[in-house]
Amino acid sequence: QELQMNLEQIEKGGYEHFMLKEIFEQPSVIKDTYRGRLLADRGIVRLGGLEDYIEKFINADRIIIVACGTSWHAGLVAEYIFEDLVRIPVEVEYASEFRYRNPIISEKDVVIAISQSGETADTLAAIKLAKSKGAFVYGVCNVVGSTISRETHSGTYTHAGPEIGVASTKAFTTQITVLAMMALRLAKAKGTISQSDFMLYLRELELIPNHVEEALKTDDKIAEISAVFKDARNFLYLGRGYNFPVALEGALKLKEISYIHAEGYPAAEMKHGPIALIDEHMPVVVIAIKSDHYDKVVSNIQEIKARKGKIIAVVSKGDTAVRELADYVMEVPHTPEALSPLVTTIPLQLLSYHIAVMLGRNVDQPRNLAKSVTVE
Ligand code: AGP
Repeated sequence: QELQMNLEQIEKGGYEHFMLKEIFEQPSVIKDTYRGRLLADRGIVRLGGLEDYIEKFINADRIIIVACGTSWHAGLVAEYIFEDLVRIPVEVEYASEFRYRNPIISEKDVVIAISQSGETADTLAAIKLAKSKGAFVYGVCNVVGSTISRETHSGTYTHAGPEIGVASTKAFTTQITVLAMMALRLAKAKGTISQSDFMLYLRELELIPNHVEEALKTDDKIAEISAVFKDARNFLYLGRGYNFPVALEGALKLKEISYIHAEGYPAAEMKHGPIALIDEHMPVVVIAIKSDHYDKVVSNIQEIKARKGKIIAVVSKGDTAVRELADYVMEVPHTPEALSPLVTTIPLQLLSYHIAVMLGRNVDQPRNLAKSVTVE
């Protein structure tokens, strides 16, 4: 028993939980994921599994992304990046819905399947369905040799290393890293990005580990915020644009490890009903970084304050306007909006982790959950 305990402590690298270790591993595993693939100063991004299929992607009628859970949220981020940079229509589908609704698929479609474990039954079934209808299927997996990585025509591995915590963290950020590299490689091939923007994105992507490192430094502050809100019964997470999927992901993190109900929503949708939920008992996490949507998010925050909602805002370093309105702020370094999910998700991971720990939850193995859902 003693030996087992010590072995586990060694595996956790001194962290209290695997999830916390994996949150703090993100700077290094993002670097591992782009190493040898992203050569910013030479203006090169190169993915082995993609090189032979560049034409297939850039001539596709559309890209269909199939995934579940957090991987599905990474797919939503990819939708924004691909449509913004590569100008190819993207549809993101829950694999469990896609496989049963007799979808229209042709050989002109390219499917991207995203899966950390590479064993998710619904995602695997969606892949088989797409292949049976002649589509080309590309996998983004974390486990080498997993069923999905073998079932897809080609793919790119995230190099996140084993993710033990049931709640996915480093898999999410390394998936987005791969998808961003894919989008940049394809945009260059398709000529939908200028050389200067291409070089800027490569350099910014290369800097992401430093920005994640900086975001992780706010951990103590986030623990203090967690203590204030740990007994809330409901949370709302709001975001716009690239950070709408991050709001969904932040809500999922909280739900699955703290068992507090949380909902992610597009910030502008509040006025179409959900704002009726707001009162002084409802903490609202708002992703309000400097972006094209900033002014509108600030007015969303004002609407919530007018209804006594408590605001926890994710803000860009040096922000002032939101700081005056929010009850609490969690700062992240500034990045181009297309890459911002890689840093804005960090405080939300830490917030859900600390709340769950304060509530005495089994953080690494939350009740009713499995790390890989191999059943349907
Ligand atoms: C994420 O925190 C969850 N553990 C879960 O939603 C997970 O993302 C989903 O089951 C998909 O798993 P996969 O990436 O291994 O396919």
